[in-house]
Amino acid sequence: MIIRHETGNYAVIVRSGGLADLPGLLAERHPRARPVVITDATVAAARPHPLPGAPCLTFPAGERHKVRKTWAMLTDQMLAEGFDRDTVVVGFGGGVTTDLAGFVAATYLRGVPWIAVPTSTLAMVDASVGGKTGVDTAAGKNLVGAFHQPSTVICDPDTLDTLPERNFREGLAEATKHAAVMDAGYGEWILAHADAIAARDTAALTQLVRRSVECKAAIVMEDERDSGRRAVLNAGHTVAHALELATEFTLSHGEAVGIGLVLETRVAEAMGICRHGAADQIARLLTALRLPVAVPAGIDRARCLAAMHVDKKNRGGVIHAALLASFGIMARDGEAWTQPFDVEKLQAFL
Ligand SMILES: NC(=O)c1ccc[n+]([C@@H]2O[C@H](COP(=O)([O-])OP(=O)(O)OC[C@H]3O[C@@H](n4cnc5c(N)ncnc54)[C@H](O)[C@@H]3O)[C@@H](O)[C@H]2O)c1
Ligand SMILES: [Zn+2]
Repeated sequence: MIIRHETGNYAVIVRSGGLADLPGLLAERHPRARPVVITDATVAAARPHPLPGAPCLTFPAGERHKVRKTWAMLTDQMLAEGFDRDTVVVGFGGGVTTDLAGFVAATYLRGVPWIAVPTSTLAMVDASVGGKTGVDTAAGKNLVGAFHQPSTVICDPDTLDTLPERNFREGLAEATKHAAVMDAGYGEWILAHADAIAARDTAALTQLVRRSVECKAAIVMEDERDSGRRAVLNAGHTVAHALELATEFTLSHGEAVGIGLVLETRVAEAMGICRHGAADQIARLLTALRLPVAVPAGIDRARCLAAMHVDKKNRGGVIHAALLASFGIMARDGEAWTQPFDVEKLQAFL
């Protein structure tokens, strides 16, 4: 599919075996450019080189390496190897890699083009579409970055076959979010195909990635700079961030998002914003996909609530969240896509 943005457009290719298109796409879209592949060490060890012959720069895997130090190391290496303005960066890996490679491309010699080749479920359905690139800092995640749209995105579901199970599943929570915020039919499809998805059936995964990319693309095309409707993609994330903090990141991001979606929707139901049944519907999907739907036993509930209140202090006393009106439809508050969120009500569902 084609994604339009302020200054042009790009194709997102979702196809089993699509990785084989990479050399041809490079020749077609960047005929003179010298490619450099950026990937993390885990993906480099688990998968064949996506572009034999091209130099490959690696960094240690993991969110804690999505930082300026790694960006500095990568850009220094490119400078040392004489990469000029006719360079095209290929980001090959999970969301950490595509965020980092995209940010290298956004800043190298004031900007060179890049191609995203996501290899995790989360990166395929979420991180690789929308043009947000960047790194984390001590003050928080993704605080230094740039909007820099890729020139092509290649999602090849075959590359998921080496992804560890927990990473595989967490991306499915973001896909569930896409269904919940804008596409009830997609939700029905996920439920009907949950076993095939969980078993990593290629046809099912191709369809899942395609539909999620369509959902995310529709939203980012409407709100490229994240000043309006893009907020709906944060559904579930207000509670998820508190859960991640309170559990010291023992819950993965996707697991926290799934639980967050259920809990935020229960609160929305209790607030009279959302039709009853939506939270149960989300929980059914997550369960079918083997994802948790409640805060695990042994987690300190008070700490989760306290983490929500830290958030509250940061935002002038009232927490706003993107809430559902029913499964597949977001609630709106006039022009706004977020609503004040009643944290007190959350306590009953924790
Ligand atoms: N730019 C955006 O719009 C956007 C959206 C959502 C998330 N993100 C970012 O994405 C990141 C999370 O992405 P992630 O969950 O993919 O993390 P990740 O890149 O760390 O990948 C998870 C783990 O899986 C490994 N891996 C990836 N693909 C593999 C494969 N095919 N085979 C074997 N191992 C593989 C990685 O080495 C890593 O250890 C976060 O930093 C988040 O901020 C960005
Ligand atoms: Zn998320």
